[in-house]
Amino acid sequence: MERIHEPRPQVTFLKSSPGVGQLPPATLPEVAFIGRSNVGKSSLINALVQRKELAKTSGTPGKTQLINHFSVADRWYLVDLPGYGYAQVSQARRKQFEDLIWGYLERRSTLLVLLVLIDLRHPPLANDLEFLERVGTAGIPFAIVFTKADKLSASQREGALRRYHETLAQTWEPLPPTYVTSSETGYGIDTLWKYLTQLIQTHV
Ligand code: GTP
Ligand code: MG
Repeated sequence: MERIHEPRPQVTFLKSSPGVGQLPPATLPEVAFIGRSNVGKSSLINALVQRKELAKTSGTPGKTQLINHFSVADRWYLVDLPGYGYAQVSQARRKQFEDLIWGYLERRSTLLVLLVLIDLRHPPLANDLEFLERVGTAGIPFAIVFTKADKLSASQREGALRRYHETLAQTWEPLPPTYVTSSETGYGIDTLWKYLTQLIQTHV
């Protein structure tokens, strides 16, 4: 297993925003995390910055309901978003989440990259593929991060990745960048962290 060794800068919780009108001023570049509820967005943020309970996680879907900004060394932001596709809420509430997410995604001028998280254990799911298409159509720069790699063997992982690449190739040319991670074991975490810090460096 790959080990986490890169030192991390100071990361602090800045703000939870219930609506786009309450977001912190768009002054610093930011990296946002999205994906189905329970896919591991909050856990991935914690693994990336090596802080166990910075972002709140839960075994029950629908934990993150606000837009949460975390400041990295006062230079850039990590943004934890609510999940999509959570069935256990009313239609009206789901619409509220969708409006919040898209209100943010379509208007945030400082959004440098959106990480779309996908649970590697599942076959390509319609709502993930539809979400990706909408992100692409909106011209939002994104990368795909597969999560929970620890739940698969190396050969299962390869099979799952191949299947995803085949599916994605039907829509995307070139394929978007993909990363495979486990917040549980640290697998792929350093590689993803380096990708993000390099993006930030080339941006500023
Ligand atoms: P919402 O905020 O509800 O949308 O969920 P989320 O996407 O933020 O997921 P969260 O990080 O809260 O994790 C959901 C569950 O998955 C928790 O029980 C985590 O412990 C578990 N989990 C997250 N990442 C991993 C991983 O890499 N491996 C394993 N085995 N479990 C994980
Ligand atoms: Mg969460």
